[in-house]
Amino acid sequence: MTIPKTQKSLVLLEESTPYVISETPVPRPGPADVLVKIMACALNPVDWACVDPPYSKIFIKSWPFVPGTDGAGRVVEIGADVQNRKVGDRILLKGDTGEAKWATCQQYAIVPAEFTAIIPDTITFDEAATIPLALITDVLVLYNQSPAPENLSLRLKPVWEPEGATAYAGTPAFIIGGASSLGQYGECRCIPPSTLARMAGHHPIITTASPYNASLLVSLGATHVLDRSRSNESILSELPTITGGKAIEFAFVAVPFYPEACRLGRDALAPGGALAIVVPHPSRVPEDVANPGDGKRVGYVWGSVRLPHTRECGLALFKQITGWLEKGLLKPNPVDLLANGLAGINEGLAKLKANKVSGKKVVARPQETI
Ligand SMILES: NC(=O)c1ccc[n+]([C@@H]2O[C@H](COP(=O)([O-])OP(=O)(O)OC[C@H]3O[C@@H](n4cnc5c(N)ncnc54)[C@H](OP(=O)(O)O)[C@@H]3O)[C@@H](O)[C@H]2O)c1
Repeated sequence: MTIPKTQKSLVLLEESTPYVISETPVPRPGPADVLVKIMACALNPVDWACVDPPYSKIFIKSWPFVPGTDGAGRVVEIGADVQNRKVGDRILLKGDTGEAKWATCQQYAIVPAEFTAIIPDTITFDEAATIPLALITDVLVLYNQSPAPENLSLRLKPVWEPEGATAYAGTPAFIIGGASSLGQYGECRCIPPSTLARMAGHHPIITTASPYNASLLVSLGATHVLDRSRSNESILSELPTITGGKAIEFAFVAVPFYPEACRLGRDALAPGGALAIVVPHPSRVPEDVANPGDGKRVGYVWGSVRLPHTRECGLALFKQITGWLEKGLLKPNPVDLLANGLAGINEGLAKLKANKVSGKKVVARPQETI
């Protein structure tokens, strides 16, 4: 396979400017890495949020900055020590924006081989690219068992372990923001009884979304989809009827930057219940949510598998992904495909920022850049 010396990358040259396309060197893999020809990259809210302060100060470590944490493509070169991948493999990968060579909004990227998963032939590159960040973030906030003080996860029993397959059977789960990417994986796919129903067994699975997304969420395993435009009071009053009076001991907020969504999760929980909120730290949610009282506990997450306290859980997850896809237990998000490769990404990010993406993941094909 011929590897070019240069490639097209999407780059940010300065804060608060649009991304532009630039010719950059194709990086070479280190001993434990693979070089991937990126066939599809998926966009996330962080890709637009990091353009401006204050998030630019947090996320951008070097300039020019290349965005993109989700990708799928073909392995074109392997490092000297890589045993589990070979040239030609179709993989999905979790990119990282700490260094330009790891980011996925470009035609070639480097990734540690251990943070890749083989994609079955039934799954397209576009579909596979929707998976990594959303799935990883959900899995880490629920299941990361690391004893490190930095781990703010709920430390539930992982669905891939025998105990996790039965521990929550028949208990209700409530997911706020079920149509978001994280909501679709977190609630409907990772937490049974949806696609992983045979592994854990929450029931019922109640979620909030726009009514036109109800059939999608039911197809993923939700049992009740409540219109997200309803007041918290109205939703809370209906929950006991849906659960048949069973206490809700688990809730998941997939849209954490809406304070009322966080409060809905908090208020739906029974005393002693567990609430997952997908922000890195309690300081990112209102204080009355971070300190909910009644023995309720709140879990937080930073969606990276490259931290000392997230690596082990990340590796355990990556070992599952191919099998889950082969068995149809894990289904990718519906895809909203951009035209013009990397050149379409500014438009895709504008749609995301304006909340005009619903129930889908926005995907670009870097090799089709005009
Ligand atoms: N902590 C981390 O490391 C980490 C990692 C990744 C993402 N995140 C965060 O997780 C959140 C979700 O990301 P994403 O990529 O999954 O977002 P997304 O797919 O872009 O979310 C869009 C969806 O949000 C739903 N939504 C918006 N407001 C809602 C509300 N008030 N109640 C219920 N649903 C609502 C909409 O549902 P309808 O279409 O049904 O109206 C829409 O489909 C973002 O805030 C992101 O920053 C955190």
